[in-house]
Amino acid sequence: MSTSAKRVLLAIILVFVLANAFFAAYYITLKQSPDGKPSVGPENGTTASVTGQAAYPGQPTQSQQPNGQEQTGIPDPAATEPAPPSTTALPETTVPAPTAPQVPPEETVSPTYIGGILVVNKSYPLPRSYDPGGLTDECESAFYEMQAAAEEEGLDLYIASGFRSYDLQASLYQRYCNRDGQAAADTYSARPGHSEHQSGLAIDLNTITSDFAYTAEGQWVAEHCWEYGFILRYPADKVDITGYMYEPWHIRYLGRSAASAVYHSGLCLEEYLGIDSVYNY
Ligand code: DAL
Ligand code: ZN
Repeated sequence: MSTSAKRVLLAIILVFVLANAFFAAYYITLKQSPDGKPSVGPENGTTASVTGQAAYPGQPTQSQQPNGQEQTGIPDPAATEPAPPSTTALPETTVPAPTAPQVPPEETVSPTYIGGILVVNKSYPLPRSYDPGGLTDECESAFYEMQAAAEEEGLDLYIASGFRSYDLQASLYQRYCNRDGQAAADTYSARPGHSEHQSGLAIDLNTITSDFAYTAEGQWVAEHCWEYGFILRYPADKVDITGYMYEPWHIRYLGRSAASAVYHSGLCLEEYLGIDSVYNY
């Protein structure tokens, strides 16, 4: 072969090699993701992203994240964890209710007796350990006596709620706070340690609604419960003094003598004893 023919052949081989190298480089570039990291996911790109995580059904891949952020290849913990099951139907705009203050009355707090009457209200709590375990015998027998008398009149009285432990009251109160907010809950539910139900001396009768006042039973109780040693503890016209809304169903056992005196005084228990009912926390 002549020298010039050899040069032409060499040039052709060189052009061929360079063209191959160029196309090879171009192909590799096409296979890379925009940030330069190689793609390792399945070609269809539906169930795995650059993190290679096993996505749960329905989980968006990183490239599908709706947060507008660029795909970085760094696993986003929020994106790799299955979403927790929805446990609430609260609308998205609902502001979580503040957690109720858990400042339980000190164990060193002693029950307060004034004139022989155990006082339990917003100012005078019971210690957490105060637990008669149920209605006191005296309160229970007084109720059965009253129930029998009401039955003679064709009326049906029953206990809807009697003794409540500190812990049960805490859970009820917290539930009401979560539902209605603490300020509202404080108008109808006692904070733990502040409920008369913990004393074993309070009873909620029949239906716990304001309509109870208009029933024959409600009217009979308002008129006669003092004869059995009970008072209506939260009268309609004493809301600002007792600290609670009208509760025609809530009666408190004081014993016959004290109940008669309070009833005939026309005062609520706080007025009768000359005390407050306000929280100091
Ligand atoms: N409803 C009354 C105030 C209580 O919770 O004891
Ligand atoms: Zn009650």
